[in-house]
Amino acid sequence: MPRIAYVNGRYLPHAHAQVHIEDRGYQFADGVYEVIHVRDGRLIDAEPHFERFDYSLGELHIAPPMPRAALRLVLGELLQRNAVLNGLIYFQSTRGVAPRDHKFPAKARTSLVATAKRLRPLPAGALDNGVAVVTIPDIRWQRCDIKSVALVANVLGKQQAREAGAYEAWQVDREGYVTEGTSTNAWIVTEDGAVVTRAADHSILNGVTRLAVFDIIHREGYRLVERPFSVAEAKAAREAFLTSTTADLLPVVRLDGAPVADGKPGPLSRKLREAYFAHATAAA
Ligand code: PDD
Repeated sequence: MPRIAYVNGRYLPHAHAQVHIEDRGYQFADGVYEVIHVRDGRLIDAEPHFERFDYSLGELHIAPPMPRAALRLVLGELLQRNAVLNGLIYFQSTRGVAPRDHKFPAKARTSLVATAKRLRPLPAGALDNGVAVVTIPDIRWQRCDIKSVALVANVLGKQQAREAGAYEAWQVDREGYVTEGTSTNAWIVTEDGAVVTRAADHSILNGVTRLAVFDIIHREGYRLVERPFSVAEAKAAREAFLTSTTADLLPVVRLDGAPVADGKPGPLSRKLREAYFAHATAAA
């Protein structure tokens, strides 16, 4: 079955799905995106993803490509045409096609492209044994709350992680505090059992998975603290983990080459991981 992509109103064979060279996403990274996990043919936590999509568009003053109900129909159709039952759906909107000029074009139509794919399995052992993380300076701009397609700093960071044999790189601000991973949110569990993650200000993306884990923490009666934590604190933490749409919740067992606690996934990370899995199954 050929893979099908959605491009500005048309469903096209993936190999021929193209946008114009003067699409502002291509020239200026002038656009935003979302990634939604698909389970049993349905979108997990679709509404918060759509809400964040609207937020990102609004912050960049890009008009929505279409009403939310229509977007849902397009994504549903795309899943069907690709027969994706378990996987990911990606969609992106840019300010559209216009002659290259930094200021907003007077006339441009918001573009929308979308792809669906079956889920690529996580690295072998990632689920059972946890993952390694390295720390790197956060060199990104000051509006990381916007899910912008301007991801080159994240790309460089992820590559640095891979070259260091790690799954993810946690980015560190000028004060020495962890902001987030290159495509995941960062968490620790302190000695006294508090689950700590940075507050969702402009320095991080407010992860949809992060918010789902907040609900689980509250429901299960654990203690959540939204505050920055330093690299030193993370290295001395009882547990650490990361979250995202693509990774779900993964224990972090090594940080900059040293084991976190005993180097094994912690009990709370494991419990939260299971609870998140149950949430995703129920939400789907
Ligand atoms: N990344 N932080 C960053 C920088 C991200 O890019 C992501 C998501 C997250 C986690 O957000 P969520 O839980 O809503 O997926 C945090 C997506 C999956 C990606 O770029 O592929």
